[in-house]
Amino acid sequence: MVRTNADSSMRANHQRLYINVDHVATLREARKTDEPDPVAAALLCEDAGAEGITAHLREDRRHIHDDDIRALATSVRTVLNLEMALTDEMLGIATSLRPYQVTLVPERRQEVTTEGGLNVEQDPDRLAAGLTRLKRAGVRTSLFIDPDVRAVERSHELGVDAIELHTGSYALGGGEKSLDALRRASTRGVELGLAVHAGHGLTVRNVGLVAAIPEIEELNIGHSIVSRAVFVGLVSSVREMRTAMDAARVALTAPLDRP
Ligand code: PXP
Repeated sequence: MVRTNADSSMRANHQRLYINVDHVATLREARKTDEPDPVAAALLCEDAGAEGITAHLREDRRHIHDDDIRALATSVRTVLNLEMALTDEMLGIATSLRPYQVTLVPERRQEVTTEGGLNVEQDPDRLAAGLTRLKRAGVRTSLFIDPDVRAVERSHELGVDAIELHTGSYALGGGEKSLDALRRASTRGVELGLAVHAGHGLTVRNVGLVAAIPEIEELNIGHSIVSRAVFVGLVSSVREMRTAMDAARVALTAPLDRP
């Protein structure tokens, strides 16, 4: 089956919600047992309306394991967005599994979560070669970058299909300044023909202002949805996020002549 996101992209102003299931695997790893299962979580997220599943196979395998990625690649009914560092090992896994999309992220061993965007100025030849390998395998490519116009332009020069803007500064209370950076980077991305995604640290409470940026077509959200699921269940948690995103997009579709 050829998996695409064409259907949802065609709907005017619709913003896709991809859910990061790493956090389910993190809970499993707290006990090194077999529950909760990130694959079962992914299927429930899809039932609840997620349009994609995101998982990060880290070099240290601290949450998602190779078996999880293989199972996700065959079980996910929407699309799989594989987050990974640009290493030979990961490129080998990605080009053999051929997920719908790979998002390249920076990885530091000691970090609790991905702390910043990729440095797209450093070793551009290596980055461009990695992107070419992925594209030749038929994989859509994305770079996780800071919301910085220069980084957007460099990403474009590297030949990537999409950028994912790091919303961490905004989520940590960066206010209007960080929102402005997200808006400017999004506008520049679309001007250059890039698909613009965003994510990190988004919650039902703070998602609205990011969801309302018209150029952003996809959000990747994990920790807050999985945390809230502890109280209300995964399906309700996903639906709450979907509702918050849709509410923010309504203003973009409101007819101009409305009283
Ligand atoms: N996008 C990327 C590239 C990430 O590394 C993460 C972190 O798992 C997310 C999105 C989702 O962030 P969060 O779990 O804070 O929602």
